[in-house]
Amino acid sequence: MDQQIIVSGIQPSGELHIGNYLGAIKNWLTLQSERKYHCFFFIADLHSLTGEFDPQTKYQQIISLTRDLLALGLDPDQCTLFVQSAVPEHTELSWIFSTLTPMSELERMTQYKDKAEHQVTNVNVGLFTYPVLQAADILMYKADRVPVGEDQVQHVELTRVIGRKFNNKFGQTFPETLPLLTATPRVMSLTEPVKKMSKSHGPKSYLALNDPPELILEKIRKATADEIGVTNLLELHKLFDANGAATQKFLGEQARGTLMNVKLKDGLAALIANHFARFRADRVKISESAVVKILKSGAKVAGGIATETMTEVRKKVGIRD
Ligand code: AQP
Repeated sequence: MDQQIIVSGIQPSGELHIGNYLGAIKNWLTLQSERKYHCFFFIADLHSLTGEFDPQTKYQQIISLTRDLLALGLDPDQCTLFVQSAVPEHTELSWIFSTLTPMSELERMTQYKDKAEHQVTNVNVGLFTYPVLQAADILMYKADRVPVGEDQVQHVELTRVIGRKFNNKFGQTFPETLPLLTATPRVMSLTEPVKKMSKSHGPKSYLALNDPPELILEKIRKATADEIGVTNLLELHKLFDANGAATQKFLGEQARGTLMNVKLKDGLAALIANHFARFRADRVKISESAVVKILKSGAKVAGGIATETMTEVRKKVGIRD
């Protein structure tokens, strides 16, 4: 059976939050268990260098994020899990792609504009060319689908543009990759519910999967509860409410104007704390040596494909015979 190729990555730049989980990783877990897909999931360590970071903690962030993904249920027997920099061909392909990418395409990228505004003292070239490396991450494995949150859709569109430019110039090589969104492609911030939940807006704005129940309660109690904020909290409640009865009750109260925000908040905090209880218990049982072993074997599989792709690419571009 011809398997469809799935590729997606996540940056080791802090804690995994429910935006990452509901927007992307939930899909990863479903896709890996379907035999019609070969899934490549990677820790995007090179991407994470475009933000502020501490070299003393970067390696531990990589280990910790991998541990999170394993505790959530990513299974190395069902998917290929690796660290981006362990397959150096990504950066080589990225360079070749950068020679095909118009500056004007990169200047349009919303994430670049947002991040450049946010990290004013560090608007580095890597931040600007980030989507080119992302195109290389995706097309290295000739991905059919990329399960990501809505904020990444523009980058996947650019991946198609770059792939087409390569195909037109050097011959058909890369497929037309499409994004794959969950039912919640844009989870909103707790503190500024008009913006997407994001690590860079500070820990009060997001719920980390590893937050203990008391911290979840504290963050949700402080969440903005204006009209948009309450809609956001109700939306989250619906997502974590297995049978939906409690959500219906809150929605009814909202319609009648009797909804007590504190009850909604406390109910939501309990649901989320409960949902990730098993994850919190499982993650501490995963040793660093187990993580390293899994990443090493994933890099071997990914590296094998990368070698094949780059042999083809170098030849087509004309730098090898
Ligand atoms: N709020 C979100 N809603 C839905 N999906 C989201 N993703 C991120 N935030 C949301 C998706 O998570 C995956 C991993 O993305 P990433 O590694 O780029 O994580 P991120 O963008 O670094 O997460 P943050 O919190 O937004 O980090 P900062 O603030 O550093 O940029 C992707 O599929 C992404 O779409």
